[in-house]
Amino acid sequence: MALKLKLLLSLSATLFLMQTPANGATCSNCFVSSRASYYPNSTEQGTETGACGFGSFGAMINGGDVSAASNLYRSGVGCGACYQVRCTNSKYCSDKGVTVVVTDQGSGDNTDFILSQRAYGRMAQTSDAASNIYALGVVDIEYRRVSCSYPNHNITIKIDESSNNPYYLGFVIWYQQGDKDITAVELCETQNYVCKLLDRSYGAVWTTTSPPSGPLSLRMLLSGDDGDETWLVPVNNIPQDWKAGATYDTGVQIS
Ligand SMILES: *[C@@H]1O[C@H](CO)[C@@H](O)[C@H](O)[C@H]1NC(C)=O
Ligand SMILES: *[C@@H]1O[C@H](CO)[C@@H](O)[C@H](O)[C@H]1NC(C)=O
Repeated sequence: MALKLKLLLSLSATLFLMQTPANGATCSNCFVSSRASYYPNSTEQGTETGACGFGSFGAMINGGDVSAASNLYRSGVGCGACYQVRCTNSKYCSDKGVTVVVTDQGSGDNTDFILSQRAYGRMAQTSDAASNIYALGVVDIEYRRVSCSYPNHNITIKIDESSNNPYYLGFVIWYQQGDKDITAVELCETQNYVCKLLDRSYGAVWTTTSPPSGPLSLRMLLSGDDGDETWLVPVNNIPQDWKAGATYDTGVQIS
């Protein structure tokens, strides 16, 4: 009898231990209720002048399934994050919804997302249903953070047009996969490894006056929801003769 009880107790303790991490994992993955609207007078795609500073990437990436975020913009840290967004009216809306990339900041009538017109319509089951939700202007939604996916792309550095070698360097980071945030960026000289931490100038734009010289080795700090932090060091350097407007393939990608 005593033995049976002990066994039962240890069994339920084991079950309890097994359940705790599983519950935690499920809930960081839970849908959150909110509202979404769409850019009223945009073209189908997003905007090239979005607050993240992504330029053309911000308009057409992910087939134009992009969004402005309000609180989720997080002073620019949220730029490039991907969310699954689905409207909740079961008459019009699909279960799957749409996956969007945050490329802009904006808020409407208690909305977390202002979607591109294309992305908004893609939450609907059919094109008729899409007309119905466009007519509503704003809909109840559920959203959750998901991994971004850019098949056939490495993480790419796009040098800002306002950059001026060797005095001033600004860039944005395109095609970062996964569900982590880039929370710090460093440039290191490849000769003596003197490093310089960059400033987040606005949105996803990293800048420095008097950048280090020579070919530049980039480091990106990837931060997860769970507090995990990892420095990612690309295999390719930014060449010494980097040019305003140019793009450079880092040769790395994350999943
Ligand atoms: C809508 O049009 C106005 C006037 O042309 C413009 O200022 C505004 O930025 C546009 N908004 C969007 C979201 O495209
Ligand atoms: C990504 O980088 C690797 C080198 O690390 C390279 O072999 C590959 O071609 C690159 N992929 C693309 C799509 O450019």
